[in-house]
Amino acid sequence: MTVSARKRILVTGGAGYIGSNTTLQLLDAGYDVVVVDNLSRGHREAVDPARLRVVNLLDTEGLVRVMSEAPVDAVIHFAAYIAVGESMKVPELYFHNNVAGSLSLFTAMIRTGIKKLVFSSTAAVYGMPERVPILETEPYAPVNAYGESKVMVEKMLQWFDQIHGLRSICLRYFNAAGADPAGRVGESHEPETHLIPLLFRAVRTGVPVTLFGDDYATPDGTCIRDYVHVTDLASAHILAVEALSAGRPSAGYNAGTGRGFSVKEVLQAVEEVVGCAVPHSIGPRREGDPPLLVANSDRLQQDLAWVPRYSDITTIVKTGWAWELRKN
Ligand code: UFG
Repeated sequence: MTVSARKRILVTGGAGYIGSNTTLQLLDAGYDVVVVDNLSRGHREAVDPARLRVVNLLDTEGLVRVMSEAPVDAVIHFAAYIAVGESMKVPELYFHNNVAGSLSLFTAMIRTGIKKLVFSSTAAVYGMPERVPILETEPYAPVNAYGESKVMVEKMLQWFDQIHGLRSICLRYFNAAGADPAGRVGESHEPETHLIPLLFRAVRTGVPVTLFGDDYATPDGTCIRDYVHVTDLASAHILAVEALSAGRPSAGYNAGTGRGFSVKEVLQAVEEVVGCAVPHSIGPRREGDPPLLVANSDRLQQDLAWVPRYSDITTIVKTGWAWELRKN
């Protein structure tokens, strides 16, 4: 994929996990990229300094200045807080940063005439769906403030389309995992709450990881999730930008593989890759964990010709483990 006119894409949250992977893929594909990140949770070293603008999303004037440096073709909006547990302790943080921050961004886009947006949404907009694999027609029913903050932005975008003609594609990620196969960027959350990096940490440190419940109504009693490789998620964003450029109307798409893995199956995959046992114990359920979350992503595959190439569990774990070793 090459871009003849070197279209400029503004990436918010480009110093974060999925944002930094997508930025590299955009550059590989020939796009020009400018990253806006306040570095509150992202990593400065994940972005080429010449491309980084340290601006807070709530600073509308600052965003307008970045957007006015050179014509921006589209925005990919990753910047957000993502910790479900934290969102249930300090929801104000989530509504302030994720909702008010997005509103500020869209305001700056309207002021500078940018009318294409790809938005990082989440499976958490569906809450605890009864029908699995989950279709995009499933109603919004978030069960935490994080998911609600994403629903609010998705709804805001529908009005911005209707009133201002700002077209958007919302990608509802399932469980993002793995690292850049070339080893350039990967996952580094602080504090880390995600299963796969915590399994790696247990291997490295010998401190057991707790599996949250083994009494769910699933075949082995542990929760099932749809793990999707970050490189495949990145490619979905590029396809979304291309689709908007080709005139596709606003839409929301699930980004997952349609195949679920239980916590114990993931643990086993990690053991196979690292070649030793993962120290672990079984603890109580974590509040708010749905037993089964698997995407139906047919629409993304059909409409945008998205093909996940790296999302088999072994590739996810291998690339993630290589990053874990490099990082430490
Ligand atoms: N888990 C453990 N032990 C841990 C951490 C996780 O057993 O120490 C289990 C969880 O209970 C869950 C599975 O591993 O069953 C995956 O948990 P993660 O925290 O890695 O991911 P979640 O499925 O909870 O959350 C992900 C995204 C969220 C998003 C959500 C959508 O990280 O941002 O999917 O439902 F909101």
